[in-house]
Amino acid sequence: MATRDEILRELRIAPAWRLKVDAAANGAPARVEPADRDRSRGAAPALPAAAAFDAEDPAARRARIAALEWNAFDADVAACRACKLCRTRDKVVPGVGDREAEWLFVGEGPGADEDAKGEPFVGQAGRLLDAMLAALALRRDRNVYIANVVKCRPPNNRTPESSEADACRPYLERQIALIRPKVIVALGKSAASLLLATDATIGSLRGREHRYRGTPLVVTYHPAYLLRTLPDKAKAWEDLLFARRVAASAPPDGASVG
Ligand code: URA
Ligand code: SF4
Repeated sequence: MATRDEILRELRIAPAWRLKVDAAANGAPARVEPADRDRSRGAAPALPAAAAFDAEDPAARRARIAALEWNAFDADVAACRACKLCRTRDKVVPGVGDREAEWLFVGEGPGADEDAKGEPFVGQAGRLLDAMLAALALRRDRNVYIANVVKCRPPNNRTPESSEADACRPYLERQIALIRPKVIVALGKSAASLLLATDATIGSLRGREHRYRGTPLVVTYHPAYLLRTLPDKAKAWEDLLFARRVAASAPPDGASVG
């Protein structure tokens, strides 16, 4: 078990692991996996090309998802075919954590490790996220919930398209309504852009309190970006301390959720 000092050292100075740098810009995650787990899905039960992704009436679907309880949530996501990401996923990655958490962390979408395991942030970026949580005396199963904007892995870890984020949004909104977090932390440019419908840079979005449908939202760097950009780890730490202040000043349970 790492000591608090070790965690802080890890966050600020010395990454024991690194992701390969990719060309992604400012704050965008590069989920480079140890081995390319993309496999040919020729024999897999892929949908026929002509399959309709959204056979269900969108309004009826939104209403159904908005009424889901936790006990039906994961199975509903697992059966979802509302966007084309359903074709290439292995496991859906609905989310993990404390269903009464004050903190909701939202990443962009599952990578290969997450797609294989069905749990968000279990690869290298996830290890850093866990270290960041530990530095705040938080754990992924205690007062924290972790989810992604899209619940299925985008092929080759590309950024989710806004149509995919829109298709998946009812699930994230239901999670927010059920959890009633005091603060949402958007991890990285893509999650921030998709949640706040903006093209602004992380640099200009961080350090301010935003709102996602009434819930306070704070933006910070994606852990995969931090793994390759040491100086910004200190800024991410400031962002988390800011998020903690936002959570502490949020109105009592759920009052901010509209
Ligand atoms: N990156 C993300 O944005 N989400 C994950 O779950 C893993 C890596
Ligand atoms: Fe459904 Fe979301 Fe997966 Fe698309 S990404 S298939 S909307 S669960």
